[in-house]
Amino acid sequence: MSTTESRPSTGLGTAYGRPESTYDRDITEVGPGTPCGEWMRRYWHPVALSANVVQVPQNVRILGEDLIVFRDGKGRPGLLYPRCAHRGTTLYYGKCEDDGIRCCYHGWLFSVDGRCLDQPCEPGGGAHKDRVRQPWYHVEERYGIVWTYMGPPERKPVLPRYDTLENLAADEELFCTGSSFGAGGDDTREIVPCNWLQDWENIMDPFHVPILHTSFSGAQFAPEMGVMPDVTYDHADHGMKYTAYRELPDGRKMNRVTQALFPHVRIVPDIHLKAGKASSVGFVLPVDDTNFRLFHIIRAPKGFSLLPRAHHNGKKWSELTEAEHQMIPGDWEAQVGQGAITYHSEENLAGSDRGVGRLRHFLRQQIALVASGGDPLGTAFDASGELYHVQAGNYYLAE
Ligand code: FES
Ligand SMILES: [Fe+2]
Repeated sequence: MSTTESRPSTGLGTAYGRPESTYDRDITEVGPGTPCGEWMRRYWHPVALSANVVQVPQNVRILGEDLIVFRDGKGRPGLLYPRCAHRGTTLYYGKCEDDGIRCCYHGWLFSVDGRCLDQPCEPGGGAHKDRVRQPWYHVEERYGIVWTYMGPPERKPVLPRYDTLENLAADEELFCTGSSFGAGGDDTREIVPCNWLQDWENIMDPFHVPILHTSFSGAQFAPEMGVMPDVTYDHADHGMKYTAYRELPDGRKMNRVTQALFPHVRIVPDIHLKAGKASSVGFVLPVDDTNFRLFHIIRAPKGFSLLPRAHHNGKKWSELTEAEHQMIPGDWEAQVGQGAITYHSEENLAGSDRGVGRLRHFLRQQIALVASGGDPLGTAFDASGELYHVQAGNYYLAE
């Protein structure tokens, strides 16, 4: 009797009977208790722009955890677990006061570090209120962003600083954005619906630049990026960098250095090839396993505003029709197009994927280091290790 199983494969490679599609959970999933999630929780993460953290509580989702961010009346930002420690309603409906946030249901008041300061339905405001602690996370503010550390408190590193964002001239300021410009979207979208690693590893993929951003969709960056680069990859001190060497059509020679630092920092030099060190630092915040959000801090002339890139007939990205998205795709289409979490089982990595391969390998090593009790690269525990010297930039070579 003939069964499907007993027939030899025809080797035609049709889609019929292909293996199950799988992804590497260990480097993609960020929830509490996952290997990657525990590694991620050893670093600081951007929560929101400082300007948007106000005395009205807001829901945020970070590393798969739903939280409430707010600012108390004394100006201190707070990041709390949303379910009230009394009987569980959400603090989203709470009200901010000088000393914290008061739950709407029975009025328990919590400080930014979760202490219960008042229980108005209990005699004397709660004789045992000190026994209650609303789960909370550490927060700090720097560069116009509220940051959080969500890991074991005894392993909390210092919040990093970046030299390219400091010592501003009188006519400069820092401009912060939490929109999806840097992922190919625009100011109408903050959340990008795919796994964080699809964006972060793209930073170590110099070969999509001459194709996707130049020849395929027209010059989305400088037209000179169409020159296929000679690329070297190095481990930089807190992650990886690549150096893309190009001889430009006008005879100039340049090295373009781009960095991916742990856990999700992206430092990309000016896309119009302006000479010098990169003047912005980006962060790929995992919202959860299948969504991320970018934050960028940009050193810019005063009054700077991020103009939407005119994509096609002067339209913004969000105004494009489906046909136009197909005609001129960018990073959003390519990365979200890989699926919610790309199937690593279906990839065929080639020589030009060396950067992506090495970054994933390095990432696995760091995740294993944390799992075995170590502190990961890029974490420092005193002020002497706080400042990072950015290497990324466009460097033109003298003849
Ligand atoms: S549920 Fe918050 S005070 Fe009762
Ligand atoms: Fe890109």
